[in-house]
Amino acid sequence: MNARAIDLATVRTWPAAETEDRDGWLHLASGGVTGRVNAVWPIDWRGADVEAAIDAAEAWLAARALPARFKLTDGAYAPLDLAERLARRGYEAVTPTLIMTAPIRARAAPDDVALSDAMPAAFDAVLRAVSADVAEYEERRGIALRAPQPAAFATMAREGQTLAIGMSAACGDLAGLYLMRTAPEARRQGRARKVFGALMARAHQWGARTAFLQVEADNAPAIALYESEGFTALSTYRFWRKP
Ligand SMILES: CC(C)(COP(=O)(O)OP(=O)(O)OC[C@H]1O[C@@H](n2cnc3c(N)ncnc32)[C@H](O)[C@@H]1OP(=O)(O)O)[C@@H](O)C(=O)NCCC(=O)NCCS
Repeated sequence: MNARAIDLATVRTWPAAETEDRDGWLHLASGGVTGRVNAVWPIDWRGADVEAAIDAAEAWLAARALPARFKLTDGAYAPLDLAERLARRGYEAVTPTLIMTAPIRARAAPDDVALSDAMPAAFDAVLRAVSADVAEYEERRGIALRAPQPAAFATMAREGQTLAIGMSAACGDLAGLYLMRTAPEARRQGRARKVFGALMARAHQWGARTAFLQVEADNAPAIALYESEGFTALSTYRFWRKP
């Protein structure tokens, strides 16, 4: 498994509102809130003039009221001198984020986690409650609603109140894990681990054999959870932006 394959599966399973392939660079635009879906992913390079392509990428984003932003994954961007070119233009690299993978094994699904192939209202409510603001909620919700099948939305409730959610969507034998959220007051009681277990049991039924996710490098609680479930870091990506 390589980082390029995971990046391509991420674009498929966590779909931006708009995706355009321009000479191998994927241009993604959504609501302008989160980085991944509002950036240029230079995954392949089939063009002739890199500097002109950077100009065109900046213009493409600006036309959508988005700031200049490139997402460079270590070992999976092209051309190889793109980081140096962006640095020469004054770009800086921010928000290092781990791309983690783990094998998916058959397992029994926990019986206290509900799974649905469409987003249930309880999932939506938790997502809204844990989002920083309405714009972030709407952007993430829109992406989750666009996710292709097979997909699964997990909710875990206690006494009628949903306290933890998570979702997965697969592309071939790769299953992406997204929106793992536990209500702040309900954390550290094993809920995310159960949500994860339910999603992985379902992903195995789909035939997916490798799970992947992205987690910001300073998110120690989430990384601890994923490492305890067998995930290891495959690569790191950073956003290159103008200060
Ligand atoms: C990450 C998150 C989903 C974990 O949810 P949770 O329900 O508290 O997690 P669990 O109780 O199932 O914890 C499972 C394991 O994760 C690790 N873990 C979870 N929180 C941790 C913390 N604050 N510090 C260290 N390890 C932690 C531990 O290994 C834990 O097992 P243990 O309690 O037996 O030691 C939750 O902290 C959260 O919603 N964070 C904000 C949203 C977010 O960052 N999501 C992930 C985006 S990639």
